[in-house]
Amino acid sequence: MRLGMIGYGTVGQGVADLLVKHREVYRARCGQTLDLAAVLVRSVGRTREVEPPEGCVVTDDPERFFGAGSSGGGSGASGRGSGGAGFDVLVEVAGGVETVRGHVERALGDGRHVVTANKSLVSAHGARLLALARDRGVELRFEAAVAGGIPVVGALMHGLMGNAFERIEGVVNGTCNFLLTTMEKTGRSYEEVLREAQRLGYAEADPTMDVSGRDSAEKISILGSLAFGDWMTGDEVETGGIEGVTVGDLRAAVARGRRLRLVARVARAEDGGVRAEVGPRELREDHPLARLDGSANAVTIIGDAVGEVTLSGAGAGRYPTASAVVSDVVAIARG
Ligand SMILES: NC(=O)c1ccc[n+]([C@@H]2O[C@H](COP(=O)([O-])OP(=O)(O)OC[C@H]3O[C@@H](n4cnc5c(N)ncnc54)[C@H](OP(=O)(O)O)[C@@H]3O)[C@@H](O)[C@H]2O)c1
Repeated sequence: MRLGMIGYGTVGQGVADLLVKHREVYRARCGQTLDLAAVLVRSVGRTREVEPPEGCVVTDDPERFFGAGSSGGGSGASGRGSGGAGFDVLVEVAGGVETVRGHVERALGDGRHVVTANKSLVSAHGARLLALARDRGVELRFEAAVAGGIPVVGALMHGLMGNAFERIEGVVNGTCNFLLTTMEKTGRSYEEVLREAQRLGYAEADPTMDVSGRDSAEKISILGSLAFGDWMTGDEVETGGIEGVTVGDLRAAVARGRRLRLVARVARAEDGGVRAEVGPRELREDHPLARLDGSANAVTIIGDAVGEVTLSGAGAGRYPTASAVVSDVVAIARG
């Protein structure tokens, strides 16, 4: 099976590396090889830690990427491959919404499967993209879009499908959990710990998406949509962030035997609707979400038959996220 990948940054290079390193493992699992045929980036000349595999077309030209461009190493293409690409699965690990939405719709419209790690895209346009995939008889998978390497989308869509869901709650933003747990332990201020997190690469230069709660809102909207049926977007989630949380707030919670964490929740409301919210919430100190340290993520799913199930692990990072992306690809290749 041939793959075309948009994006060759943190996650994309992890995907490329796994495809080479575990080539035989994946062949045994799905009965065919998984070959990275083409990569679309913004800047072809950039040095990458992980080299694209031999023969892979690397280009900044979407037409060439989609296999409709000219053959040969024309402008905008690296010399590693030649000719139009041609691929069966589009892997989208670029980010952003509008540009990649066009690419994803094009791939689905062409009858290609799509795997994406993009929570903003799926949260905003998941309903339409899933409908398009259904119409074309192909798959749209997005395990990596929520909680990185933790297989929570798969749990909801497969392993727990026999349940009526009551509630889902999660700590799904590692940056915020790092900030809150570090402030709580060290007594250092939000601003000081944020600067450290930026230095260590745990927080973006512009941390707004994370600390405002928006990132968590998009993720919980995806889980809520899958669990409760009607698609909801991140805009429909009542959202608060952690910018105003102080060391005093965190330590007062500890004194009460509780922990203050950024919690994302979605539940069936009494009026039959679905309500989703994100904000700093106090949890019992023995709650599975309260015990998470640093940048880890966890999601608790409450189903009527199974009871409470909590999944935890690495919610971001090159290889945890690539693990989720490649697992989706392998699932598609297995049929
Ligand atoms: N990093 C994580 O831990 C993590 C976890 C879960 C989900 N995700 C999601 O995975 C996606 C990728 O994240 P990342 O951390 O790998 O990002 P990144 O390191 O910034 O890499 C983004 C890549 O996409 C390329 N790109 C961006 N816009 C493009 C466009 N319009 N056309 C073609 N190529 C484009 C960039 O090209 P250049 O290299 O040429 O600039 C770069 O190679 C995002 O949706 C993110 O939310 C990431």
